[in-house]
Amino acid sequence: MIIRYRDLWKAFDHPILAGVDFGVNEGEMFGVFGPSGTGKSVLLKTTIGLIDLDRGDVEVDGESVYGGGPRALQRIRYKVGYVFQNSALFDSLNVYENVEMGMA
Ligand SMILES: Nc1ncnc2c1ncn2[C@@H]1O[C@H](COP(=O)(O)OP(=O)(O)OP(=O)(O)O)[C@@H](O)[C@H]1O
Ligand SMILES: [Mg+2]
Repeated sequence: MIIRYRDLWKAFDHPILAGVDFGVNEGEMFGVFGPSGTGKSVLLKTTIGLIDLDRGDVEVDGESVYGGGPRALQRIRYKVGYVFQNSALFDSLNVYENVEMGMA
């Protein structure tokens, strides 16, 4: 599996992630759907260690996001593309131009 979410737990003022556990295979397209405020963005942010988890770990390409130390986390962040929800695509540009802009 290219990404493996293992038993993720996170509460802010109330529980958000409660034992989330699944993996995504290389080449697989995987969508997460659900009502607003249910933890989709919190989950995705754990992929590159942007959330301090209460429990659990994520592995990307065999490396631990939360247990591998800063060098491993840096390697993972070089490999993973992440678009924040509030900085979405420019609708005046096509897909190629949006991607190109991110690489500039
Ligand atoms: N850094 C944070 N500090 C405190 N609470 C947070 C933080 N980040 C997220 N939350 C809370 O966690 C919950 C889940 O938020 P999240 O942004 O993951 O929802 P979402 O499923 O992505 O919603 P949407 O569909 O609107 O994007 C919400 O109650 C949100 O207020
Ligand atoms: Mg979101």
